[in-house]
Amino acid sequence: MPGMLPNFVLIGFMGCGKSTAGRRLAALTGHRFVDTDELAASRAGRGIPEIFAKDGEEAFRRIESEVIEGLVGVAGIVLSTGGGAVLRPENREALKKIGPVIWIDSDPEILFERAMRSGRRPLLQTENPRSSFDSLLEQRRPVYEAAADLRIDTSEVNLEDVAKRLLDQAMRFRGRG
Ligand code: S3P
Repeated sequence: MPGMLPNFVLIGFMGCGKSTAGRRLAALTGHRFVDTDELAASRAGRGIPEIFAKDGEEAFRRIESEVIEGLVGVAGIVLSTGGGAVLRPENREALKKIGPVIWIDSDPEILFERAMRSGRRPLLQTENPRSSFDSLLEQRRPVYEAAADLRIDTSEVNLEDVAKRLLDQAMRFRGRG
């Protein structure tokens, strides 16, 4: 019965596996998979790198906030968020209203390798991607930690098992609430 299950909100750094884990979790629960980056791109009518290049990061953040606000009250979703979606306090508030917030974490080396893989992440298109990555991760780690109800480290868990574990943990979290 899908109505029995809460939504799931996945946060975490670029490359943590939010989308992969989120899609599996959606398949497992029957929830709809929703991705803030995809919604932002379709709202803007262009891809994320193009939004950053043509309109700037602030414009992207505004669209991202609108997308998140628009999901408050929607049931039956697994929501994967962009790595910077937790930066604005109003976004963190909205995400908490949507459902239990789960921080998908991983070893920095794994994150870096995965984050660089697509070659399309504007915040890492710098002269020194590694130092951009390191400073962003350092700034954001405490933000993820504060925003999350649960944390799962995917460096030791096979991505196949992450969705199952998330379901299990989120149900337990809900039981406490
Ligand atoms: C961003 C992460 C990206 C995307 C945008 C900004 C960030 O999402 O929202 O490039 O600030 O960390 P992913 O975490 O899915 O890569």
